[in-house]
Amino acid sequence: MDEKRWQPRKVVIVGAGAVGSTFAYALAQSGMADEISLIDHSRELTEGQVLDLAHGFPFFPTVKIYPGKKSDYANAQVIVITAGAKQRSGESRLDLLQRNAAIVEGIVFDIVNEHSQAVIVVVSNPVDVLTYVAQKKSGWARGRVIGSGTVLDSARFRYLLSQHCGIDVHNTHAYILGEHGDSEFAAWSLTNLAGMRINEYCPICRKCTDWEKEKSAIVKAVRDSAYHIIDYKGATYFAIGLALVRIVGAILRNQRSVLTVSTVLDGEYGLKDVCLSVPAIVSQVGVEGIMEASLPSKELEALSQSASVLRGAIAELRQGD
Ligand SMILES: NC(=O)c1ccc[n+]([C@@H]2O[C@H](COP(=O)([O-])OP(=O)(O)OC[C@H]3O[C@@H](n4cnc5c(N)ncnc54)[C@H](O)[C@@H]3O)[C@@H](O)[C@H]2O)c1
Repeated sequence: MDEKRWQPRKVVIVGAGAVGSTFAYALAQSGMADEISLIDHSRELTEGQVLDLAHGFPFFPTVKIYPGKKSDYANAQVIVITAGAKQRSGESRLDLLQRNAAIVEGIVFDIVNEHSQAVIVVVSNPVDVLTYVAQKKSGWARGRVIGSGTVLDSARFRYLLSQHCGIDVHNTHAYILGEHGDSEFAAWSLTNLAGMRINEYCPICRKCTDWEKEKSAIVKAVRDSAYHIIDYKGATYFAIGLALVRIVGAILRNQRSVLTVSTVLDGEYGLKDVCLSVPAIVSQVGVEGIMEASLPSKELEALSQSASVLRGAIAELRQGD
């Protein structure tokens, strides 16, 4: 085999905290990457995480994991940004947003400077706003700079729905759309159990007496999930780590998977110049296309409401500059 022609499947993870390190662990287990480069502001944290992970080499599928540097951006296939600042005491939400936007802009500047051909996946919160910021800063095609969006929220939704209906989560197809945050909503019109529309399944199931009430309770539980986990243990990282393996795997393997990642819209669903989650086709180029489902008016309104919330946050960020 011609060594020169072999290109490792290389993923750079920026931010080696709870989310970045858990994702590195899950990605290494998956066997989908040949190289994982871990970059963090804190050199000590990076060294510690890399050593801890490296001691798993005898148990992982073959993989290299090492402390990274900016030049790693050049030949990476995917760069995942999980870097973020923590809220300081007395700091406003806008101040924190500005600091995180500056962090993401700085990282994107370095990536572009290295003439990287990678797809960027933003995870840091607020993910939709920061993905928008990253895409604008890069000047790249919109599909090459995407956010993890509501892939995690959709997983939470599928889990809760499968528990409620008593059906395997793998047969439970359901999507949360819009903002990764309080204005997100469930696309009930796209929800099905093994192809059977949820509203057709309900009369057969007869488990609950008031399905509308149950629906609201499930969506509320999805929306509040992160708050509960953060109250219990300070941060969420296992499920997002796995959601990232799914997204990055779709890119590395050119899978054309339909995932609710966050993308800058350009007229789809009647929305322009705003970044949020709708079902998107994810392949080696990032988002290759948007699945424009014919949503009922109630769901279209919810999507447009979510877009307004996000446009407001972007406007606030610009005013604060
Ligand atoms: N999108 C989602 O679904 C989702 C889910 C969970 C967490 N998150 C977000 O992911 C982010 C990370 O969460 P966490 O729990 O890992 O936080 P963390 O504090 O454990 O890790 C963040 C890391 O970023 C590093 N960092 C800060 N600035 C940097 C820079 N300029 N370059 C490189 N590294 C830098 C810090 O040193 C720290 O190690 C947060 O913004 C969090 O809200 C998103």
